[in-house]
Amino acid sequence: MKVELKKGIYWVGAIDWNIRDFHGYSTHKGSSYNAYLVVGEKTALVDTVKAPFFEEMMGRIREVLPPEKIDYVIVNHVEMDHSGSLPLFKEALPKVEVMCSPRAEEELKLHYGGKIPLKVVKTGDILELGEKTLTFVEIPMVHWPDSMVTYVKEAKVLLPNDAFGQHIASTERFDDELGWDAIRPEATKYYANIVMPYGPQVLKALEALQGIEIEVIGPSHGIIWRKHIPEIVASYERWAKGETEKKALIVYDTMWGSTERMAKAICRGLVEEGVPTKVYRLGVSDTSDIVKEVLEARSMLLGSPTLNNGVFPSVAEFSCYIKGLRPKGRITAVFGSYGWGKGATAKALAADLQAAGMEVMEELQVQFVPDGDALNQCEELGRRVAQKIKKS
Ligand code: FEO
Repeated sequence: MKVELKKGIYWVGAIDWNIRDFHGYSTHKGSSYNAYLVVGEKTALVDTVKAPFFEEMMGRIREVLPPEKIDYVIVNHVEMDHSGSLPLFKEALPKVEVMCSPRAEEELKLHYGGKIPLKVVKTGDILELGEKTLTFVEIPMVHWPDSMVTYVKEAKVLLPNDAFGQHIASTERFDDELGWDAIRPEATKYYANIVMPYGPQVLKALEALQGIEIEVIGPSHGIIWRKHIPEIVASYERWAKGETEKKALIVYDTMWGSTERMAKAICRGLVEEGVPTKVYRLGVSDTSDIVKEVLEARSMLLGSPTLNNGVFPSVAEFSCYIKGLRPKGRITAVFGSYGWGKGATAKALAADLQAAGMEVMEELQVQFVPDGDALNQCEELGRRVAQKIKKS
């Protein structure tokens, strides 16, 4: 069945029902690799799909027209979930002209060895298809330096690749079919895990797209937006500015229960002060899901026991991931237990969170097992963090 976004613009992507790990990001609901066919007097394919899904894409193209009728392939982004089928496509249809941004030219050569002739396009360049005009706008770092969007002026359709995506495999293709409540959590998780480090670049991209009339947004993953465009664009603005809600998150792991008791006591303090709080134990919780919560929480406290005079491995892995995602401006504190090497764990955790742009209020450590006094100190810490959240 053909999926038409607007007259002459078709989704010809592939659905990956079974992917559960997308370069370390958990995709409980699978994903899709969205490619689009823009048919005018000439025809352009905007992006391809991950290599194993090449035939699925070709089948969808054949439902619209014979692939031999395609004149151009636009590479909006080089990452292999979108460019992976390009060598196969070019081999099958050697006459197509491949267009990409200046950075994508360099990166495609580094991926596929320079065998594919490329035409470079820059922000503001247009490609006349006849009946339809494609305009290109570079949006570096949303998601890679090469990223760009393709805009179909006559149809007011924006094809922004990774921006506004979500990892969802579904037979529904449009937001009005699946519903905002089902899509929003996946769009949030996607932004948190993939786009969060690039807030300033997202704001620049949104600025570059201001004034452009948009009636449909076809991202490269998941559901196509045509009803909830104001909501998803406003969400991107909020996330890119680092706006958060007055709520807290406690993330920890534990060896013999001491750090867990501390986490629960800190939670009591926060809740007594009226701050909504969620508690996640690493090792039994999904890291990508926790990061989704980090995106919108004003505060995250991180706790670790001490192992071999250092941070517990699951907590070290989490703090390394968070350091890369840079959720700036969050209020945080570190806590945990130790046996005989006081200080190293808390200092290492605090250093990672500071490197991520977070403000570390306090480091609270307890030797071996927290007694009543120590748990009171934890509750007090929760209260102090809550007060800071409420004043912020
Ligand atoms: Fe969906 Fe950055 O690739």
